[in-house]
Amino acid sequence: MHIDRVPESVGKTLEIKGWVYRKRESKDIIFLVIRDSSDVVQCTIKKGHRDFGKAKKLTIESSVVLRGKVTKDERAPTGYEIKISNLEPIHIAERFPITKDKSTEFLLDARHLWLRSRYLTAVMKVRHTVVGAIHKFFRDRGYYEFNPPIFQPAQCEGGATLFKVKYFDNVTYLTQSWQLYAEAAIFALEKVYDVAPTFRAERSKTSRHLAEFWMAEMEAAWMELKEVTEVAKEEVRFIIKEVLKHNKKDLELLGQDIKKLERVAKKPFPTITYTKALDILRKKEKLRIPWGKDLRTIEEDKLMKHFDTPVVVTHYPKEIMAFYKPKDPKEHKTALCFDMLAPEGYGELIGGSQRDTDINELIKSLRKMGEKPENYEWYLDLRRFGSVPHSGYGLGVERLVAWLCGLESIKDAIPFPRTQRRFRP
Ligand code: 4AD
Ligand code: MG
Repeated sequence: MHIDRVPESVGKTLEIKGWVYRKRESKDIIFLVIRDSSDVVQCTIKKGHRDFGKAKKLTIESSVVLRGKVTKDERAPTGYEIKISNLEPIHIAERFPITKDKSTEFLLDARHLWLRSRYLTAVMKVRHTVVGAIHKFFRDRGYYEFNPPIFQPAQCEGGATLFKVKYFDNVTYLTQSWQLYAEAAIFALEKVYDVAPTFRAERSKTSRHLAEFWMAEMEAAWMELKEVTEVAKEEVRFIIKEVLKHNKKDLELLGQDIKKLERVAKKPFPTITYTKALDILRKKEKLRIPWGKDLRTIEEDKLMKHFDTPVVVTHYPKEIMAFYKPKDPKEHKTALCFDMLAPEGYGELIGGSQRDTDINELIKSLRKMGEKPENYEWYLDLRRFGSVPHSGYGLGVERLVAWLCGLESIKDAIPFPRTQRRFRP
């Protein structure tokens, strides 16, 4: 039985399988805290018991199967204790290298072992809910899961962050986004989504950037900017609610303020324009950003000090946007695009836009960024055969997990983080 079932088994004898999490011994009694995937529980064995010698030999992270009677005990870490009647060591662990006060770098080197920590276990459970919620959200709304290629011949989000891969006798790249392929898919399936690994050769060493991360993207035919921003808000709200439903215990363990998340899930998320964002920064933060400049991390953070929910920012300057974001027909210097920013300094959760359907504009934008339109012929074909208005966005799974869990670094939102400097274990 899993340890989280212990509280309902008071007075009964049960068998648990797990690992030694803590051990304390005095002359007459040994206290073992055993952990499994569900929780921890204190187990005791007294001198004179036939298995006392076996308990003495147990080291931290040794694996065991034990049986015993459950009692209530206020002094035990979880309020319950198992009095061991039968103890079977399965493997006596060598000296476990992770002890208290290890540096972040050490823990990253020992990630394969640190993964067992209650901290990372809790984060991985939240992540599990987040990814499950994304699938549920889209499937329940008639979106088809559509899987793109990971090897892609061209950029989507700028050549500077492409990972080049030797591909037989050629060169190709790891995907930066599923988007261009999703734009092909909407002509068959209309509404599609995916959650998949995404790669960016990011040189920025921030607490928000990974070289390999998971992006949850959606693309829908017949959808315009306003509607797609509403889908994004609804999706994030749905994910928060699912996490609150399934992971309260994990959030508590992580020290997250559950009440705060409950409030966020209830409040509407505002939408403002980029121009309005500059206005807020000028008036409330005395920051003068010339119209046309992208918002940097510090500016996003300053802006978000004035909000306690995620905020959608639309209509960024067309000039600084990816080639596929169209100009607003009502105001040509802005694009029909949006970002969703997280509160509390967690940065950009989502980037998305309506897609340019004007083939000549697309060619112009590609040329301007030094790309050869010939390399995008297949993509341009999508504007030649039954083109329709369409929109989509990508949500950074680790950014969202980091915010929901209140993590210091995005690296802990993924089991084995990849950054410029770290690509093992
Ligand atoms: O804003 P981005 O670059 O948008 C796109 O790639 C679009 N093609 C998506 C689309 O419209 N289908 O990336 C989307 C999100 C960002 O908002 C951020 O949350 C996350 O992906 N992201 C990263 N997360 C971790 N590490 C990185 N290096 C990231 N780069 C982007
Ligand atoms: Mg972006």
